[in-house]
Amino acid sequence: MSVEALSGKVFLLVTGASRGIGRQIAITFGSLLEEGSRVLLLARNKDALRKVASNIPSKVEVYTASTDLSKSTDVEFQEFLSEALKETTSDAFDRVVLVHNVGSLGDLSKSVNDMMDVNSWRELYHLNMFIPAILNAVVMNTFDNKTIKKTVINITSLYAIQAGIGSGQYSSVKAAREMYFKVFALENPDANVLSYSPGPVDTDMFTTVCETIADPEAKKMYIEMRQKKTVLTTEQTVNRLVQILKERKYNAADHVDYYDNL
Ligand SMILES: NC(=O)c1ccc[n+]([C@@H]2O[C@H](COP(=O)([O-])OP(=O)(O)OC[C@H]3O[C@@H](n4cnc5c(N)ncnc54)[C@H](OP(=O)(O)O)[C@@H]3O)[C@@H](O)[C@H]2O)c1
Repeated sequence: MSVEALSGKVFLLVTGASRGIGRQIAITFGSLLEEGSRVLLLARNKDALRKVASNIPSKVEVYTASTDLSKSTDVEFQEFLSEALKETTSDAFDRVVLVHNVGSLGDLSKSVNDMMDVNSWRELYHLNMFIPAILNAVVMNTFDNKTIKKTVINITSLYAIQAGIGSGQYSSVKAAREMYFKVFALENPDANVLSYSPGPVDTDMFTTVCETIADPEAKKMYIEMRQKKTVLTTEQTVNRLVQILKERKYNAADHVDYYDNL
């Protein structure tokens, strides 16, 4: 399948690429890349990242960096990019594709009136909002040549646009992250920017939602989805993402859900 956003010599960076949706994005996108493309995968688990890399065709060079993104800095991101660009330069690429997939749920078990620990809010916003913003700026400054086409995909959630009981931390940070990418799109009108909401997907995160969410009705619904096998596989949601990118019927920084009829 030819997808314009993944064509030519691409530099692809995926955060949270060791498992779940990020792992599948790395493998599916990686399999669509042309020779001469490079991939940089970030997450904490080095062995899992290496396994993901081994599932990407060998014509594409894959670099992995084990890092706790909740503690990363702009300098560290510059170092990862320099390593992944060794023996070449950013100008050698036709496109950069940046997938901000990393995410964490925060505490779904409490209502907002019970969340007074500022460190819990700080940690959540650091990983889910501040780090994507810093990484995005570092990547845009590294690939600053105007001829390099930019695609930025923010993996978002239905919770970014729909409040739920217990979702105070998760909903608010996903909404903030979407707004950040709307501003980025406005300031960078040539960039292809998409906030993709992947639907309910069978990953470790989904298990945590089933186990911890405060809202009994939501909990029942999610557990039933697993039992009735209506929860999506990572392959299903990433194939839909590829289709959305291919058709490109969205406007800059739109929130597009797996189930949307575009
Ligand atoms: N699953 C769903 O139903 C669903 C629904 C809507 C939206 N989403 C969104 O989709 C994205 C991916 O979710 P998922 O379900 O695939 O999650 P997941 O199974 O929990 O995977 C999370 C990924 O992020 C990495 N990660 C987590 N904390 C990290 C940290 N501090 N530093 C570096 N890497 C870290 C993990 O790798 P390591 O442990 O190796 O670091 C892993 O690769 C998230 O943004 C999530 O909000 C998911």
